[in-house]
Amino acid sequence: MEKQREQWGSKIGFILAAAGSAVGLGNIWKYPYLVGENGGAAFILVYLICVLLVGLPIAVAEILIGRTAQQNPVGSFRILTNGNRFWMGIGLLGVLAGFIILSYYNVIAGWSLGYVIQSIGGRFESMIHPQQAGEMFSCLSASTGWCVGYHLLFMALTVGIIYAGVTKGIERASKVLMPLLFLLIVVLVIRGITLPGARPGIRYLLKADFSAITADAVLLALGQAFFSLSLGMGALLTYGSYMSRRENIITSTSWIVGLDTLIALLAGFMIFPALFAMGLEPAQGPALIFNMLPVLFNDIPGGYFFRILFFILLALAALTSTISLLEVITSFLVDEYHFRRHRVAVIMGGLIALFGIPSALSFGAWSEIRIAGKTFFDLSDFIAANILLPVGGLCIALFVGWFWRSGSVKTELLTGTQTLPVWISGLWIFLIRFIAPVLVLIIFLQKIGIL
Ligand code: PHE
Repeated sequence: MEKQREQWGSKIGFILAAAGSAVGLGNIWKYPYLVGENGGAAFILVYLICVLLVGLPIAVAEILIGRTAQQNPVGSFRILTNGNRFWMGIGLLGVLAGFIILSYYNVIAGWSLGYVIQSIGGRFESMIHPQQAGEMFSCLSASTGWCVGYHLLFMALTVGIIYAGVTKGIERASKVLMPLLFLLIVVLVIRGITLPGARPGIRYLLKADFSAITADAVLLALGQAFFSLSLGMGALLTYGSYMSRRENIITSTSWIVGLDTLIALLAGFMIFPALFAMGLEPAQGPALIFNMLPVLFNDIPGGYFFRILFFILLALAALTSTISLLEVITSFLVDEYHFRRHRVAVIMGGLIALFGIPSALSFGAWSEIRIAGKTFFDLSDFIAANILLPVGGLCIALFVGWFWRSGSVKTELLTGTQTLPVWISGLWIFLIRFIAPVLVLIIFLQKIGIL
């Protein structure tokens, strides 16, 4: 019994939902701490190059695959390759990456929810130094009950939205929240850069010192580009599969990539000028925004309310990303095995939450348990963001650039674009065939030490 596949309610609906997937903890929590651990401006520059030359063309490719095949990642490759096992395996790898990412991403999403409650309780009001917030963060993140509790609660929220269905749940949520979050970040940026002593922080973000750039840092920047754009695992592909053929993929994708990058850059300006003004070290790891932000609000009139609002919006930004992760897994199981959507959402949400518990304990009870020198949390993040996503992205680029009949690629790309200048499609094909795959390969080989 074939049902008409659901579609986004409007043109802007797709852009907002995909931007909702892209914009999340990756921009506001992860990007600043990677910048802080890898020396500032030079890392940002490498990141921007990765976004432009690798991320943007692969994002177009991924959405194109989804819109053409109108299926989940595995089904899309089946349709486009007449059931080639290798390519379907690549789709499956994406579903697996989604599973792993959701398991640890959800832990941080839980923290942001926990911080809403801390903020409401006025726990940061009297703090004048981020160190005090840092102590509180260490204490909370080490608490098994707090971490696991919010982790489970957040997963329940995610499952609830997926339960409500694609267009209703995801689209409605994304429409209102993203602009609000954006505004609040701008307010914090203005506050940060006008603090006395903010100069060195601004310089840190603008003046590149390339001596900090190692092969590790370049791989981190590439992985972050994929992670932040929700790329390389079929999230954009799945969202693209609900997209109408009347839409212009290149402009829609450019909007998504542009917004995501803008928000990450702003998050840097929100954190570092204030951090330098308060005389702190940039390399603080995953705790960074939880140490910095609560205190920064004390410098703003109405800080108590804005802090609550900020953590609510952060949790919601995370929610629009977690639902996209769960949606990939759900659409795969629903399309391929005809399971009931509601049942899949609940069961998979539960399984992923369980799988994420070791990551939730990685900052406390299980912080000493290491595999290859990494906690569960770090290991999951490394495998997913720095290996699975770039490999997935590389394969998507190779597929679209070399294996999909080039006639159909062009026709599909041009469907919905009345006035696309020829050089743009030409440039995209050049990037997707040569530049993006070669860059990803070079970065991998560098990291392994072969180049
Ligand atoms: N892009 C999201 C963020 O930056 C995370 C994400 C990664 C979501 C992969 C979906 C797929 O927060």
